[in-house]
Amino acid sequence: MACGMVVEKERRVDLGKRGETHRMRICLRCIILIHKSYPRDYTTNITSAIISKLQRQLHLQPSHPLGILRTLIENHFSSFSHFSDVSPLVTPAKNFDDLSFPADHPGRSVTDSYYINKDLMLRTHTSAHEVETFAKGERQWLLTADVYRRDEIDASHYPVFHQMEGAAIFGADANSMKELEEKNAYLVNYLKSTNIIIEDVPHLSASNPVQSAHDPHHAETVAHNLKLSLNSLILALFGGRKDEPLRVRWIEAYFPFTSPSYEVEVFFNGKWLEILGSGVVLQSTLERANVPNSIGWAFGLGLERIAMILFGIPDIRLFWSEDPRFLSQFLPGKITNFKPYSRYPPCYKDLSFWLPENGLHENDFCDMVRDTAGDIVEDVQLIDSFTHPKTDRKSQCYRINYRSMDNSLSNDQANEIHAGVVSRLKESFGVEIR
Ligand code: PHE
Repeated sequence: MACGMVVEKERRVDLGKRGETHRMRICLRCIILIHKSYPRDYTTNITSAIISKLQRQLHLQPSHPLGILRTLIENHFSSFSHFSDVSPLVTPAKNFDDLSFPADHPGRSVTDSYYINKDLMLRTHTSAHEVETFAKGERQWLLTADVYRRDEIDASHYPVFHQMEGAAIFGADANSMKELEEKNAYLVNYLKSTNIIIEDVPHLSASNPVQSAHDPHHAETVAHNLKLSLNSLILALFGGRKDEPLRVRWIEAYFPFTSPSYEVEVFFNGKWLEILGSGVVLQSTLERANVPNSIGWAFGLGLERIAMILFGIPDIRLFWSEDPRFLSQFLPGKITNFKPYSRYPPCYKDLSFWLPENGLHENDFCDMVRDTAGDIVEDVQLIDSFTHPKTDRKSQCYRINYRSMDNSLSNDQANEIHAGVVSRLKESFGVEIR
């Protein structure tokens, strides 16, 4: 499997359980992912913590909250094709260029996305599969997958999460559009009889324009169908749980690969929560997929966000737990309320250091912490930063909260893990600890 390990070094890596670490040999020339070897280059920034997540496929487990939610949504869109086993390794062309992202889009940078090398990355969204799925001739489909983004660490941000992409395309002709209008009229009627309050925005506006390739009337019909289809999904998922009506709001948005574009927020436990992005598919996407005379919509929704609300799961790390106290609570096809088991005490450690001359990106710091200490890290916060008035050197202080989901962490264990973080920080970024 390995490449002969021409150059190698040893690194402490977290095993995910009980805060244990062990030493692992790492080849500096290549990287092994899903049983295949890939060359490293100057862009390689994928960490072993991330590699360990590549084959978990939580969304395929029938009694995991993410698997349950996927199945509920697939059942709602029962006439659509369903895909849920697609490799996370994609080319940057697939993730960005095919979807008309500009060359200077920040999402492309190594501080925001995980690269295996300059030609291969981990998908940052399920939209990366739009062109290939349309190109297969699929006209109505759902695709569920794990997606990867470098991010800060807290209770609702994790560098791996799951999205579901949904899309539908229709003939761009008068007859097909007439049929779609009839479907829309039926859905309008259905939604009238339910307890859902929807705040809407115009389908088209100067700031959320129709594409020049589209007949505005067709674009309006398609956008209307998108909104009706998603409102009925939202109602199926969230509605009928309480006496009070469900409140949903549509907001104008911008994505490089849809126009007009919208986001949806749901009012839940006193707060507006963004749950999805959507819009009328850019005609150039359909042209790349070689689908002529068609017009359609797409959406991408975040499964963790919705599952946290529906199942009452307070911390995004819990989705990765292998503790039976978590996993045994859920049954296929059922939304049940998560009953928290005892939380173990947090353990805060502060880490102050002088920055190296070329600085240190917060995402690089967080990834290094997560890679060294694993899911023991609950959150990482920058609590202080200043520039020395005389030497002009910059100092930062991060506060790391170590807390185990599965067992109690002793101060000695936390100290040992923290010492691993400190030595990695010095070794990888050349900082000077204060
Ligand atoms: N891919 C977008 C995201 O991750 C969501 C999206 C999907 C928006 C499809 C429009 C259409 O934010």
